[in-house]
Order: sequence, then structure tokens, then C-alpha cells
Amino acid sequence: MTESRHTAVVGLQWGDEGKGKIVDILARDHDYTVRYNGGANAGHTVVIGAERYALHLIPSGIMHPGKVCVVGNGVVVDPHQVIKERDALVTRGIDVSPRRLRLSDRAHVVMPWHKTLDAALENLLSTGQSNAAGADHSIGTTRRGIGPAYADKITRASALRLGDLCDRDHLASRLEVITHIKNAQLLAFDPDHQPFDLEALNAEYARLGDELRPHICDTTYLLHEAMAEGKRLLFEGANACLLDVDHGTFPYVTSSNCSALGIPAGTGVPGRNIREVIGIMKAYTTRVGAGPFPTELKNEIGNRIRERGREYGTTTGRPRRCGWLDLVAVRYSAMLTGATQLAVMLFDVLAGLDELRVCTAYRLRDGSVTQRFLPDAHRLEAAEPVYETLPGFGAEITAARSHDDLPREARAYLKRIEEYVGVKVGIVSVGPERGQTVVRG
Ligand code: GDP
Ligand code: IMO
Ligand code: MG
Repeated sequence: MTESRHTAVVGLQWGDEGKGKIVDILARDHDYTVRYNGGANAGHTVVIGAERYALHLIPSGIMHPGKVCVVGNGVVVDPHQVIKERDALVTRGIDVSPRRLRLSDRAHVVMPWHKTLDAALENLLSTGQSNAAGADHSIGTTRRGIGPAYADKITRASALRLGDLCDRDHLASRLEVITHIKNAQLLAFDPDHQPFDLEALNAEYARLGDELRPHICDTTYLLHEAMAEGKRLLFEGANACLLDVDHGTFPYVTSSNCSALGIPAGTGVPGRNIREVIGIMKAYTTRVGAGPFPTELKNEIGNRIRERGREYGTTTGRPRRCGWLDLVAVRYSAMLTGATQLAVMLFDVLAGLDELRVCTAYRLRDGSVTQRFLPDAHRLEAAEPVYETLPGFGAEITAARSHDDLPREARAYLKRIEEYVGVKVGIVSVGPERGQTVVRG
């Protein structure tokens, strides 16, 4: 049997749930780790002993010698970033040879103008110049050029794919047209814009193409051939369900399909080939960037969670907003992504609180109560959380290695999650390291 043996790891909240840790653990039992969405906006952490690795574009399976890592067609790739990341890993003794890192020839390229446009738009929106009230309407993007790169993919005429970098004449003819369009767009935005130099770009991107050529291939055939040989694939979601461009808190989202729904389009592998979808969730909630967050705690408890959980962005270093667990949101994401089990992460961070709250419904402005998530920022902003209170657990749990090692109150908290979401908790994480993990049979 070559089908239905594959696994996906998907974030169920607003990102940073601990996907990198779980992918690293599961990669041992899979042959390929595959990214299907997002770009260098992702920041996935893997901790091995005293070593800490932050991965943005290279899949988190890279720590396992001999395993293959694939960046699928649905990812937007900044060539400078992927080379920087590859070389930094090589310096630390990790094999990132072309045999191990495969990049789709159809992945779109993040170009300098994408980052310029991303920042220009965010600056315009944040200064309040865009509206009479002077309000900040920025999204709080990572400024990695993600939105503009995906916009060009959809626009088509002004997009470049990794495969285009591998043929100098073809690249030169594409860049001529695209640079013309981009200079016109940026001039409209900023009259002081210095036009991009076509010759310099030709030289730079031909060189990047030469450097990346050994990694670039048709990853769709690569993955289908691997499946036919009986290899197991592990899909690594970037960003998370509530940031999904179609199903998240629009417009405070990213620009790709982050849930498991993005896998077929972002890799060419049919959804029916995936057997397990592991929904990764924190034991509480965080969000970085702007947008509604009903259970946000702007108080001592929120600060305590931020400090104990080291809740500062892996990509941008920004402090993350912290709050109670929103079960309405998690149940919605689990439904959307087809989660077959949950991994509850950073559970250790909640130790020492007298009581724990979980949001089980929203109260709306008209007084009605709903258990449905509201995947629209304007509507979700009006939602007040309805909480259930559960007893906290005083003792530290970082040394727990089995379910029975957890205090009774901690087990009750996990049980309530399972009941509400309707999906079993298969993994509990009690610290950043590989070993600080409880796997339930
Ligand atoms: P990702 O984007 O989903 O891969 O998550 P990030 O790497 O951005 O953020 C998760 C952070 O939590 C990282 O610093 C991890 O090392 C850390 N982490 C993961 N699991 C645990 C855990 O169970 N407990 C604690 N204290 N930290 C964890
Ligand atoms: P990982 O994979 C947390 C957020 C940004 C911003 C919004 C849009 O590490 O979980 P973008 O740069 O994508 O246009 O920003 O999405 N965001 C993330 N937040 N973790 C991520 O990735 C994120 N990727 C994007 O903060 O609010
Ligand atoms: Mg992250």
C-alpha cells in the first residue's frame, strides 16, 4: 500500500504552537518532510540538548541525517534566505546537500520589491495617514514580502518561479518585463523610489539560480515517486489555521492556505493520501501582529505566560500577545483541518496558576451566545469570551514523561479539551526539548 500512510502537522491557533518541535520528533519515522505553504514568515524552533535551531524555510526534518526535506510549489521562497539558512546549518554540522534539500521549480520567488511593498504598505497603514481618524490599520506582517509575492503569483504577469532562475536568457526576458512593472508600481507609491537596476538584478538572480540549481526539481513527481516506493511523507504546516487566508480572521491573516486544505494545492499530493493530521495547539493562546483575540489577557497573568513561555517571535522577536485557551477557535480549526489527534504544547507554562480558564462560547453584542468561531475580524472583534473555570496545578510538570506523571488537575484540563474539541490528545509537551514529551498510546 502506498497511499494513506502520510502525516500532516498543522497549527490550530495563530501560529507558534510548537510545530517545529513535533515535526522534528515525527521526522524520525518519516522519509520526507514537506513544506506546502507560507515562506520565511514562519519561524519553527527545534531544540536538541543545548542547541536551538530556528528554521524559516528549510523543513524541520533537516536534523535527521538521511531524511529528505522538500519545499513544495505552494511556498514562496526568498533565495537569499534559503541560502543563508542552508549555510548556517552546514556550519553547525548539518548535512543540507542537494540530495537532502529539494526545492520546487514552481515555488514562487520572493523578490526585493515584495519586501519593499510589504513594508511600504505596513508603514502607510500604521501611521494613520490612510484614514481621517488617524487609526492604525496595519496587519503587523513579518515584512518578509509574503503578501506581495502571493499577490504576484495570482496576478501572473509579474511573478517569477524558482525554475525561471535556472535559464539565464529566459530569466533576463522575464526580469525586463517585471522590473518595468515594479518600478511603475513603486513610483506610484513613493515618488522618491529609486528604480531597480535591471542589469544588477540579472546578475544577482542568475547567480542565485546557479547556486540553487542543484536543489531545484519537479517536487510533485519527486513526491509521487517516493510514495510509489513506499516512502512516508510528513507535511509541515507553516503559520496556522486562524491565519489561513480563506478561513482565518481576515484581513488579519497571512496570504496562504495554512490548514491541511493547503496540502494538495501546495504539493500536488491528494488529500486522501494523508492518514493522520496532528493539530498542534498551545495549552493557552498567543497571537503576534494585529487582529482580534477574544481571550487576550492584558494583565499580570498574560505577562506571566509571556515570560514563562518565552513568548517572543522566532522570526521578528516581537512580544507575543498571550491569553486563555480559546476552545471555540481550536474546535473550529480542528474541524477545518481534519485533525485526527491533538498535541497540547507548552503545558508546563501554566503550572502555578490557581485556576485556569477556557473559552467555550462567545457572547455577541446583541446578547446572543454562540459556539461557532467567527472567521472575520470585524465580527470577531465584537465577541466576548464566555469562560469555564478549571482548577490549576501547582507543581512543575517539566519532568513528566507519562500521562500518569501529570497532576490530577492537569489531566482534567486535557480531558476537558478532548471533550470540547471531540478529538483525542495524543501528545502533551512539557518543555522545549525532544524528550520533554508525553506520547499517549
Ligand atoms: P512553531 O512556529 O509552531 O514551530 O513554534 P515556535 O518555534 O515559533 O514557538 C514555539 C516555542 O515554544 C519555541 O521557542 C519552542 O522551543 C518552545 N516550546 C515548544 N514546546 C514547548 C513546551 O512544551 N514547553 C515550553 N516551555 N516551550 C516549548
Ligand atoms: P509560524 O509558522 C505567528 C502573522 C504575522 C501577521 C500576519 C501576516 O512560526 O507559526 P505575513 O508576514 O505572513 O504577511 O503576516 O500573520 N504570522 C505569524 N504569526 N507565527 C507564524 O508562523 C506566522 N506567520 C505569519 O505576525 O500577524
Ligand atoms: Mg513560529
